[in-house]
Amino acid sequence: MLKGRNLINPDDLSVDEIYEIMTLAQKIIKSPMEYSNICKGRILGTLFFEPSTRTRLSFEAAMHRLGGSVIGFSESASSSTSKGESLSDTIRTVCAYSDIIAMRHPKEGSAHLAASVTTVPLINAGDGGHYHPTQTLTDLLTIIESKNTFDNLTIGLCGDLKFGRTVHSLLKTMKKFENNKFILISPTELKIPNYVKALAFKGDDEYVEVEKLEDVIDQLDILYMTRVQKERFFNEADYVRLKDSYILNSKKMQMAKKDMIVLHPLPRVNEISVEVDEDPRAVYFDQVKYGMYARMSLIIKLLGEEIC
Ligand code: CP
Repeated sequence: MLKGRNLINPDDLSVDEIYEIMTLAQKIIKSPMEYSNICKGRILGTLFFEPSTRTRLSFEAAMHRLGGSVIGFSESASSSTSKGESLSDTIRTVCAYSDIIAMRHPKEGSAHLAASVTTVPLINAGDGGHYHPTQTLTDLLTIIESKNTFDNLTIGLCGDLKFGRTVHSLLKTMKKFENNKFILISPTELKIPNYVKALAFKGDDEYVEVEKLEDVIDQLDILYMTRVQKERFFNEADYVRLKDSYILNSKKMQMAKKDMIVLHPLPRVNEISVEVDEDPRAVYFDQVKYGMYARMSLIIKLLGEEIC
């Protein structure tokens, strides 16, 4: 039962609950008008203490398309946080005005703190370099729509695996399905943190780590590209040195399987050449739209089936 729950960490959802959210999202894709009034009278609070285009706007579009309304802010400077208000007090306040909250915050663990005081369902829309569970639902909907399965896939995660919260969330989740193989592609400095590996894998034999995309691209069913996360570097020189570690272009795509799909949570900087956008295997702009449907489904589930 998802009604009334928070979504903070990808592990908050069981495999059955993930399928439940996916099934509803697929129904919404097929018949969006059937859901166009389901959240009438409900209010979503969007608290974005860190910049966002897709996550914030897709949450807002999702609630509007469900017939509900939205309040919130897109930067902490326009909230009373700038006057020194604590996160706990902000959450208590927004709970008085809204039925459900989506929050993005630059600090790891902030979503847990917010969850400890909220009285309405609270969704983590990204907490620092930690987790981004609704991006994972977006990724999963893209995968199920493209591949029709979550099992028996070879998944390459490429780029900034250290700071990339979308990678941490997706990896933990895809491990829950059957017989998936993981190839972690990154420079040494941007390898996936040990705490994420420890949470996702039982042993070193469950994944492969490589530095060159060209060495493994022909094995992949899914290539998950990521941006080097400039905002999480302590040192500009390190960012400049690492930012163009991977650039996916048409030449590299020629080495890939004919049915490999390329995902990217976006925003992209240089890591995928625009020439790849025309390749039918590039599904990252479809992924943007699936994000809205995944969030529509999640909002309905957390607010409760009785609104259906
Ligand atoms: N994928 C994602 O989280 O994008 P935004 O930062 O634009 O929300």
